[in-house]
Amino acid sequence: MFGGERIGNGLRTWKPLSEMRPVILDCDPGHDDALAILLAAPHLRLLGITTVAGNQSIEKVTANALKVVELAGLARIPVAQGMARPLVRQPVHAGEIHGDSGLDGPDLPAPSTPLHPRHAVDFIIDTVMSTDGVTLIPTAPLTNVAAALRREPRLAKRIPEISLMGGSMTCGNSTPAAEFNIYCDPEAAHVVFTSGIPIKMCGLNLTRQANATEVEVERIRRLGNRTGRAVAEMLDFYRGRLRQMFGLAGGPLHDPCAVAALIDPSLIEFRPMHVAVELTGTHTCGMTVCDSRHLARGQVEGGGGVRRGETPNAEVGVRLDVEQFFNLLIETLGRYP
Ligand code: RIB
Ligand code: CA
Repeated sequence: MFGGERIGNGLRTWKPLSEMRPVILDCDPGHDDALAILLAAPHLRLLGITTVAGNQSIEKVTANALKVVELAGLARIPVAQGMARPLVRQPVHAGEIHGDSGLDGPDLPAPSTPLHPRHAVDFIIDTVMSTDGVTLIPTAPLTNVAAALRREPRLAKRIPEISLMGGSMTCGNSTPAAEFNIYCDPEAAHVVFTSGIPIKMCGLNLTRQANATEVEVERIRRLGNRTGRAVAEMLDFYRGRLRQMFGLAGGPLHDPCAVAALIDPSLIEFRPMHVAVELTGTHTCGMTVCDSRHLARGQVEGGGGVRRGETPNAEVGVRLDVEQFFNLLIETLGRYP
């Protein structure tokens, strides 16, 4: 049983909030973002959820964040609405995958919880400037984070780490080269990857390993609680769309990987690399160019060797302990009402 403090209807945190890492989750729910919220709340000191346009419009992803908070009985966690469009480019959404609502599947009631009165960018700035050690967990286009860094440059020295879902060491999903969160707002991603803040990058090469199949969905459904049933219905829809569109056999849970990396660092193997965001390529715009040349054969275990290329600016996830990841996620979901 979690021995911490009540954060919801009967839900307790893993340990006292004062001993837990303070974080802000910046998201665009989104089926996998919903799971990131549910995984984060009992294990991290979730100071707030900020929303940004991505999978759907800002209005829809914000309503979805409130629906998830209410589903799980987490209504005390503030939700602040953020940027409605990328810094430069036209908005891109992913309704073909997440549905018209952005969280199709379960019939969740319209939320009644009021939004936090501050804009997400101001919420991030105010929280980071007033609370020491706040880690950011972006699982969406990086528009809010980049806007906050530009508006208040002192954030770069106060944020100890950013654990983000985005990019890829290998192929993309929005294009052959670019992953959706980076593709939506490459200029914002460039701001973040050049900020000097330590970054854990959970890209598609890693997150596709967190593939929810029928087995995992039935484990979640069999939890028998309200939250487990709703999550199973979310994943039924999400997996159905991916099967229909791409013939995929499962549903990759991208966003919870960025949360799991902070809860249990042993779950993900990271490698230091320089990551550059392509801003101009005709075919490669939004690509995260990961320089792994120094990770020559025999050095993956961390041996010596000549480092070529620029100094690493990120830890890039390469391997997930899939079994333990799903055990953590499903055990956490079982704690909810
Ligand atoms: O490419 C996957 C990412 O794009 C995930 O964060 C998903 O929620 C969408 O935002
Ligand atoms: Ca997302």
